Amino acid sequence: MVAAAKEARVPVAVHFDHGMTLEKIKETLEIGFSSVMYDGSHHPLDENIEKTKEVVELAKQYGATVEAEIGRVGGSEDGTEDIEVLLTSTEEAKRFAEETNVDALAIAIGNAHGMYNGDPNLRLDRLEEINEKVSIPLVLHGGSGISAEDFQKCIQHGIRKINVATATFNNVISTVNKASSNGPYSDYFTLHQDVITAAYENVKHHMQIFGSCNKAELEAVR
Ligand code: 13P
Repeated sequence: MVAAAKEARVPVAVHFDHGMTLEKIKETLEIGFSSVMYDGSHHPLDENIEKTKEVVELAKQYGATVEAEIGRVGGSEDGTEDIEVLLTSTEEAKRFAEETNVDALAIAIGNAHGMYNGDPNLRLDRLEEINEKVSIPLVLHGGSGISAEDFQKCIQHGIRKINVATATFNNVISTVNKASSNGPYSDYFTLHQDVITAAYENVKHHMQIFGSCNKAELEAVR
């Protein structure tokens, strides 16, 4: 990914999501990731602040940016756990941003990883409150299953990075299932191309909703 990003004609951030230890984060920085997340949301606030500060110091030496999390996003990345949502407190978010100097802050406003049971019930009132008190870019995890309308409201109120993974995985699965229902794939290359196209289409669909198409300045390929 780092090599592909260097070849791209647009600026590409290579981001390490949910880093849990300083050692793992250091490993990714050594490889050349341009952005890392330290997820200390399961720790008490003071401990999360202290550990995040260490990551900020470390990342500075590599010129990389840092995202951290406060409150707890529900669900789980691989669907094996049903973690309960713990809403981010506005006062804690303010203190966290001021004391840690992180570049971006992931918050919990009812969002959850994986698919939602029913429609997500986002606390946009809490997001508005946090956005008034916290000046750094806010991050929304658990983007799969959120409506275009809610995404746009979140963006209006300070969300600047949105994570979407499950919806991309699901688009790949349904595309491959649909294609193979007409008969099994007979060659690997067609299957491989369908997987790439399905992932591409879902990313493009979300970029259109977020209003992030055609924003980058094209660079000559190095
Ligand atoms: P989804 O599971 O909703 O796609 O969320 C992905 C995510 O937030 C990764 O950190």
